[in-house]
Amino acid sequence: MMKKLVSITILLLVAIRAEAQVIRSGELWPDDEGVHINAHGGGVLKYGDTYYWYGEHKAENTSNALVGVTCYSSKDLLHWHNCGVALSVSDEHGHDLERGCILERPKVIYNNVTRKFCMWFHLELKGRGYDAARYGVAVAERPEGPFKFLYSQRADAGTWPIEFGEKELAIVDTLDVANFEQQWTPAWLKAVGEGLFVKRDFQSGQMSRDMTLYVDDDGRAYHIFSSEDNLTLHIAELTADYLHHTGRYTRMAPAGHNEAPAIFKHDDTYWMITSGCTGWEPNEARMFSSTSIWGPWQQHPNPCRGPKAEKTFGGQSTFILKTDAGIIFMADIWRPRHPIDARYIWLPIEFEDSKPVIRWRDEWKPQL
Ligand code: GAL
Repeated sequence: MMKKLVSITILLLVAIRAEAQVIRSGELWPDDEGVHINAHGGGVLKYGDTYYWYGEHKAENTSNALVGVTCYSSKDLLHWHNCGVALSVSDEHGHDLERGCILERPKVIYNNVTRKFCMWFHLELKGRGYDAARYGVAVAERPEGPFKFLYSQRADAGTWPIEFGEKELAIVDTLDVANFEQQWTPAWLKAVGEGLFVKRDFQSGQMSRDMTLYVDDDGRAYHIFSSEDNLTLHIAELTADYLHHTGRYTRMAPAGHNEAPAIFKHDDTYWMITSGCTGWEPNEARMFSSTSIWGPWQQHPNPCRGPKAEKTFGGQSTFILKTDAGIIFMADIWRPRHPIDARYIWLPIEFEDSKPVIRWRDEWKPQL
């Protein structure tokens, strides 16, 4: 009996030791069982006094989804408990979420009216690479799930962005992808900016890849995603139940080639941080601001400071979490050859000359 007690105590001490005491971006981040957190491309939702971190479960040798979306919970943003799989992939052949599909960048928001947890994510159908370019929606009664998959599709089929009036539509009318033998020429980029791909995908729906969700102070929610072959971000309003698009959407930074959008609001200004498009390789973060979610958005210099600031410290943005104690920038350091070993960057956002700045810190502790 005594022996058993001693070994349990030792085990507990080892587990406590293994748990993170500070945030060390880029290093292993053990959960409360000492296992590196597996929730990549994720986001955090606060519900009651608990934070829930949702992310992609990554496997040893493939970035395809073999498990689904994981959920971890914490009261202090430092110590995380593994709540298991919130949204599971399916074993049914031909299912949208068939095991082996690509399921990325899940985000969850809570709907105060329906009292449901709503998850949106980027979905690529199994065996089709990144061609499908869809978003998926799932819903749950409880924060840790299980989430029930509802549907996946492309965005806003048959609808023009709100800023396309008579003048813009007259230009769109003249555009045709068949007129461009060569891509990346100034004429092609101009046409993309004017809506070449919006027109191409008008009937089938707009492409929807890297994404985030944002709930505004008035309860309206938005889906922000890379569209048009990742060349233009779309900001689409959600219905009151947060489960569909309303059809109202705007294009942001047309032909600007932005991915990995993350957004927050500070003193009535919306700030968005994105990355360029270099796949799993890091690049320089971009930053935009606007006093309306519908724009116009203005671009600012890279907000990162410190070693590897010109490569987002080796990472790519995924989410910005506003807490009572401050604002946290979250990013992923991808490991495409060993995806499960991908790392996290969590750094506080500070303000300098009224603009967000992300300064590298070897370690820090959120003061909640
Ligand atoms: C990145 C994107 C990731 C993933 C990856 C695949 O640019 O942000 O979420 O899709 O490309 O190469």
